[in-house]
Amino acid sequence: MKGIIPAGITGTGSYLPEKVLSNFDLEKMVDTSDEWIRTRTGIRERRIAAEGEATSDLGAAAARRALEDAGVDPAEVELIICATVTPDMLFPATACLIQKKIGAGNAAAFDLSAGCSGFVYALAVGAGFINNGCYRKVLVVGAEVLSRITDWTDRSTCVLFGDGAGAVLLEPVPEGYGLLAVELGANGSYADLIYLPGGGSLHPCREETVRQGMHYIKMSGQGLFKIAVKVMEEASLKAIEKAGLKLEDVDFLIPHQANIRIIEAAAKRLNLDMERVYVNIDRYGNISAATIPVALDEAWRQGRLREGDNVVLVGFGAGMTWAAGVLRWSKKRREGEARC
Ligand code: UT7
Repeated sequence: MKGIIPAGITGTGSYLPEKVLSNFDLEKMVDTSDEWIRTRTGIRERRIAAEGEATSDLGAAAARRALEDAGVDPAEVELIICATVTPDMLFPATACLIQKKIGAGNAAAFDLSAGCSGFVYALAVGAGFINNGCYRKVLVVGAEVLSRITDWTDRSTCVLFGDGAGAVLLEPVPEGYGLLAVELGANGSYADLIYLPGGGSLHPCREETVRQGMHYIKMSGQGLFKIAVKVMEEASLKAIEKAGLKLEDVDFLIPHQANIRIIEAAAKRLNLDMERVYVNIDRYGNISAATIPVALDEAWRQGRLREGDNVVLVGFGAGMTWAAGVLRWSKKRREGEARC
């Protein structure tokens, strides 16, 4: 559209806590095996935040690295959006805590909750502020400490999740580059496929809710699995079409990392060779809103993204939500637009 300022990623960063929890460690905690976890999910190990380390700490570390990568001072950041389902607290927003920790005192800040699709949702929102000329430097963070809402006695969920954070800086980029299109969706009738019942206005935190384990993730794995493959394919195809591209134009896919079988099935439906799909689920498990920005940062630093590549980001998660975005990769910023 005429007059729209293209928004692209000019810096990426990620942070994973040091502590590694392997499948063999989990064998000692619940009735499971490395073999079951590897073959059913593709996960070998995951990272766990240290005692006292919160989502804002992980998010701030990833954000600092993204700003350093872009060569931008924190004081120049105008907006911070943090996608998370594990905020430090119900309020204030984790984005405000990140703002303070990184010294981005001139930035507006808010959180966005769209489950594992949260990062792509946040990218779309952040890009909008650049497209319309409102801001020139928007930090988008996906950060999670899922280990704190995981029931470590429930083998059906505790083997899946991990902690980590990824961040990107969005800035105006040259015409034809950056976020070309997004496809966002939700279906609230699937809200009970993955949710955390306790601690909100419906079931406020009480002795009883804690006794019933309502402060832990509840999940219907098989239900999610079936819908995930379908929505990842559909959302990707719609975003690719909106970007004016064809499937064969796609150079690289960065999918949400929930299960290697979901990733492989989606790649197959999109007719993409696994060489062109980024996978790190083996090392980190599912880190919800952080999976895509962590993968993006790793792919960039490993030299797997080239100038001009058409990159599809796609995720699904609690809500149920889904989101796909198509980026034409370039880290060159475009100077000189006026602010609104
Ligand atoms: O970001 C979005 C969030 N989550 C997802 O996207 C999850 C999507 N779903 C999945 O990834 C898979 O459904 C799971 C990995 C969660 C489960 O794999 P599955 O192939 O669907 O297994 P299942 O739930 O059908 O369970 C098969 C068996 C059951 O035993 P029986 O009833 O056949 O005797 C489970 O009790 O595997 C058992 N099982 C386990 N066994 C060893 C479940 N968890 C474990 C475990 N270790 N950790």
